[in-house]
Amino acid sequence: MKLLDGKALSARIKDEIAEQVAQIKAQGGNVPHLAAVLVGDDPASQSYVKSKVNSCHRCGFESTLIKKDDGISESELLDIVADLNDNPDIDGFIVQLPLPQHIDESKITLAIDHRKDVDGFHPINVGRMAQGLPSYLPATPFGILQMLERAEIETSGKHCVVVGRSNIVGTPISILLSRKASPGNCTVTLTHSRTKDIGAVIREGDIVIAAIGIPHFIDASMIKEGAVVIDVGINRVEDESRKRGYRLVGDVHFDEVAEKCSFITPVPGGVGPMTVTSLLMNTLKASQKEIYA
Ligand code: GUN
Repeated sequence: MKLLDGKALSARIKDEIAEQVAQIKAQGGNVPHLAAVLVGDDPASQSYVKSKVNSCHRCGFESTLIKKDDGISESELLDIVADLNDNPDIDGFIVQLPLPQHIDESKITLAIDHRKDVDGFHPINVGRMAQGLPSYLPATPFGILQMLERAEIETSGKHCVVVGRSNIVGTPISILLSRKASPGNCTVTLTHSRTKDIGAVIREGDIVIAAIGIPHFIDASMIKEGAVVIDVGINRVEDESRKRGYRLVGDVHFDEVAEKCSFITPVPGGVGPMTVTSLLMNTLKASQKEIYA
């Protein structure tokens, strides 16, 4: 079994991005500027946004963090989005999800100018992605593609089983891996909460992508010998032995599955760090007008 070390790979990619930004600065070009909007005090969201801002600094990007308490109204948040859309200094921005119940996430997503939608969540970017047109790819699927590519894992003709059909991970990665591209050219099965005998379906996978958000959902009995296992889950489980009272585990029972598969991503330190580098790559593209003029 080989470990797909997302922490090490993302550090390497960040060094590459920092080098490109240094060149842009030396040539007097447009330095990438990412803005992030964080609503409320969800600890996981706070930690993700902190990591995004820190990564911007590390790569020489400019960054702006807009923090609002969870009492913010939908229309106030829409005003912030409109300001960011109109602000020529901001190349791209994200509104961290989830949002409080009283705010319609899809309304916010639709309000973001697709040319600044470095999360790749706007239907224009999703539609362009589905048709293989240049677009901002959503961060987690983009990170998974990077991992597969850099580890030189063959995907063409493989059966990929995706577990979970979220808009952020399961649905887009199933589209991307089925596309005529590299990585891609997979035969994809998208499984979800209504899939019958899900274990038997997962066991058919040469590549398994777990993005269901249930700790240790996939055990060794569900994995084919030699499969590639990508664990997107980042679940907090209580652990009194830890100072902070919890630890992070994936959707995959790592210890069991690691003995059976050819490649596996750890949690933490697998897909998670890659999502941040994807966001940086999208923001770099936005600043250089690579996708949209
Ligand atoms: N919440 C979980 N993942 C993401 C992401 O990639 N982008 C945003 N904006 N929110 C998230």
